[in-house]
Formats: sequence, C-alpha cells, structure tokens
Amino acid sequence: MDHTQGNPAKGGEREICTLRLRAGNDRFAKETGSRRRAYFLTFGCQQNEADSEKLAGMAQDMGYDVTDTPDEADLIVVNTCAVREHAEKKALSTVGQFKHLKAKNPALVIAMCGCMVSQPHRAEEIRRRYPYVDIVFGTGSLHRFPQLLCERMEKSRRVLCPEEETLTVEEGIPVRRESSYRAWVSIMYGCNNFCSYCIVPYVRGRERSREPGEIIAEVEKLVADGYRDITLLGQNVNSYGKGTAAGWDFADLLAALDRIDGDYRLRFMTSHPKDASRKLIDVMASSRHVAHQFHLPLQSGSDAILSRMNRRYDTAKYLETLDYLREKIPDVTVTTDIIVGFPGETDEDFEGTLAMLRRARFDMIFSFIYSPRKGTPAAEMAEQVSPEAQHERFDRMLALQNEIGTEKNQALLGVPVRVLCDGPSKNNPDLMCGRTEGNKIAFFKGETDDVGKFVTFRAERADAFAFYGEKI
Ligand code: SAH
Ligand code: SF4
Ligand code: F3S
Repeated sequence: MDHTQGNPAKGGEREICTLRLRAGNDRFAKETGSRRRAYFLTFGCQQNEADSEKLAGMAQDMGYDVTDTPDEADLIVVNTCAVREHAEKKALSTVGQFKHLKAKNPALVIAMCGCMVSQPHRAEEIRRRYPYVDIVFGTGSLHRFPQLLCERMEKSRRVLCPEEETLTVEEGIPVRRESSYRAWVSIMYGCNNFCSYCIVPYVRGRERSREPGEIIAEVEKLVADGYRDITLLGQNVNSYGKGTAAGWDFADLLAALDRIDGDYRLRFMTSHPKDASRKLIDVMASSRHVAHQFHLPLQSGSDAILSRMNRRYDTAKYLETLDYLREKIPDVTVTTDIIVGFPGETDEDFEGTLAMLRRARFDMIFSFIYSPRKGTPAAEMAEQVSPEAQHERFDRMLALQNEIGTEKNQALLGVPVRVLCDGPSKNNPDLMCGRTEGNKIAFFKGETDDVGKFVTFRAERADAFAFYGEKI
C-alpha cells in the first residue's frame, strides 16, 4: 500500500539531494525501462516502524519504488534495534544474508541505521566486518538520509556517518504509511530516564518534543484522510512538552487532539509510572476518542529491584496510579512490561513480581529476560542471575499470567464491542482479525469490505491472547 503524506523534502540540502537523486533515478528508468526499487527491513519498537515510514517517504521522493522483496531491490535499508541482544543478533545475521545479493548486483546499495548502529562499538564493527554495507547512520541522522545516499551515489565511497551531537526535531519529512487506517505519530524523541538496564537514552539522545501545532495538524490530516486508529509515540509521553514554545504537558495535548471531530481512536505509548498524572487519567476518562487502554510498564514487583533499575517509583506508588485509573475508567485494559532476572533478583524479589501480577491483574504482559547492554550500569552489576533461574522464573510468570489473562478475557464474553478490522488472519484465512478498543485481538467471519472499518463484534470464546466470536 502506498499512502504518502507530508511535503516533498522541504529544506535546503535535503531538498537538493532529493531532486538530484530523483533525476538520476528517472534517467535510469528511462534508459532501462524499470524503476529503481527500495526495500526496508525494520527491527524494534513502534518508534522504529514510524522512522522507517519516514525513510520510505524520503526514498519515494527520491524516485524509488518501495518493494517487499529484497532480491529485486537496488537499495536495502535495515533499521536496527539495540534493546536486547537478540534484536542485535537478528539484524546482524540478516545483513549477513544480504551479502550474496551484493555479489550478484554490485550496484546494490545497503544501508544500516537506527539504534544498534548508533552505538560506537557496533558502528565500528560494521565498518570492519561488513565491508559491503555502504551507508551507516544513527537515529539522529535520519532526516539526512537523502544527503547520505547522494554522497554514496556520487562519490562512490562508503558513508559512515558519525552520530550528530545536536539532536533536532525535524518537521516536514514525507511519510509513506504502511496502512491506510492505522497510523503512528511521534510526538517526542529520546529519553532522559536512564533506567539502569536500558540502552535507549544512549542511542536516541535526550528528550525533545514536537510543537503541539505540528502534531495537531498531522492528526487532523490523518482523521480527514480516514485514519481510524492513531497512536502517539514517545519513550515517555508523560514528559511531553518540556522545552516547547507552547509549554503544554501531555494531558493538554491529548485534550486538544480529542477535540478533533471524526470516527477514530487515539492511543499513546509509553507512559512511565513515575509521572503518569491524575490529570492525564482525568482527560482520558472524559475524552471522546482516547481508547480505554493503558500501557504502564511495571518492570518488577520488588521495590529493591525497582530502585536498582533506577525507575524512581515503588510498588505502592504504581498501585496508587493503577487504582485511580480503574476508578475513573472501570473498563480500561491495562498492559505492562516485566523484566525477569535483573541482576541481584532473588527468589523473594521474583515472588514480589508474581504477587504484583496477582494484585494488578493485567490484561496482558510483555515479558523479557534481562539482557545486559554494553555501557549501561546494570551490565556492570555483580550477581547476574543464571540463565537457568531466568528461564525457570520466566516460565512460571507466563503460566500465572496465562490464567489471569484468560479469566479477564472470559469475563468480557457476550458483550458487543467495536473492532477495527485488519484483514484475514495469517493462520486461518477464513477468519478476519481485528483489534478491540483495548487493542486485544478478535477473530470473526467477515468480508473483504470490512478491512479498515469498525465492525460490531460479540465474543463467544476467549483465551489469554484473543477473542473468537461473530460480527453482528
Ligand atoms: N520507554 C519504554 C520502554 C522502551 S523498551 C518504557 O520506559 O516503558 C521496551 C521494554 O523493553 C521495556 O519496558 C523493558 O521491559 C524492556 N527492556 C528494555 N531494556 C531491556 C534489557 N536490557 N533487557 C531486557 N528487557 C529490556
Ligand atoms: Fe529505557 Fe527507561 Fe527510557 Fe523506557 S524510560 S526508554 S526503559 S531508559
Ligand atoms: Fe525501539 Fe529498539 Fe531503539 S526498542 S527505541 S528500536 S533500541
């Protein structure tokens, strides 16, 4: 699908390079009868998905068609993640597989960008051990993609871009959205929190927010274009607004966006529990469009571990926020992130996490085994937990959450709800699959015409992860 939005690369050097590349690509198409194609592969979180949609938007402006087959690409861009070792390994092995494509087609340009290569040791590794990677650039250089590509094409040498010190908020970058009814909108970039296990602040720099006017204009345009589900993105949306001319906080922004008329849902992620405010919850409760869904990462149910994680809240403060949220929005879906096996986590600490799961009764949890990240304080902590203990705890936690999630979902059977239909299920093409207001998966028999629309759905059966029912 192809839904480009935004101005064609506005702004000096970026515009000049875009036009130069487009001229070259148009000439190539004339001479060969086929247009140059770009392939994008994205690892990591929604923020990275949103970044890739910008890279694809810029590529399209530069005269590339976007393809979903790497074999036929003239340009391959791998947008990487560094949050856990597994994500890095996957990106490296995938790029390894592209080596043979380069051997077949020496004109192929391979670029790597994003969080993994924003770490100096990884950038250096790519330089030395992956000579067929032509361009490397970090998260702060995303908007300079046309310049970097221009340099590579015109000077035919590798472009290994050191990370820029001054991280900016760039507006006017074209976006090629993957979907015509679901959209990501970044409202801020970076993170200031330095949780002791986390690489994100090192690879995405300090917090900076977009001006509310820019965000409102983008969401207005999305709603006018028929988007039904819009997710506001930031590593900690609760600290939105610092340093902006408007001086708004996140609750102010959400309230303003909610005033836009139309049939759509607004979501946001992620909220940090240390500053999830009552004001925000009140805005949500009285809103017309904000989905009754809240992702509030707990990470651990042990106060000692939370303190070593530098999370700056304890379980009591977390529960206070959660209880207020449920008091104001009784039907809210609450999800969380948990890290298992953080350095120094004892059996007792882990029991604390299980106790919190029983008390908080989350609808769903995203759980991760702790992965040491080079350069973070936690990676240097003594008492790393053994992989056996980590896996044993992880499995116990999933079993408990499975029970809780199933019970919570079964309590919702029989009640008609609105589901945004995404299309045929991958595992069973006879069924359509969609998302409820709480962002839970629903399967039902539907028609092709339902895709991208809200349908009324009644659940007949549920497990911990999905509802099965009918369209009514
Ligand atoms: N900004 C978001 C989280 C972004 S990373 C927030 O603060 O909630 C998404 C999740 O990955 C985190 O919530 C955490 O649970 C997990 N995570 C981050 N670093 C990790 C690491 N080193 N090992 C394992 N899980 C990690
Ligand atoms: Fe990482 Fe913590 Fe920032 Fe989230 S808030 S991105 S976990 S440092
Ligand atoms: Fe996201 Fe991974 Fe970067 S989780 S912010 S892509 S390290």
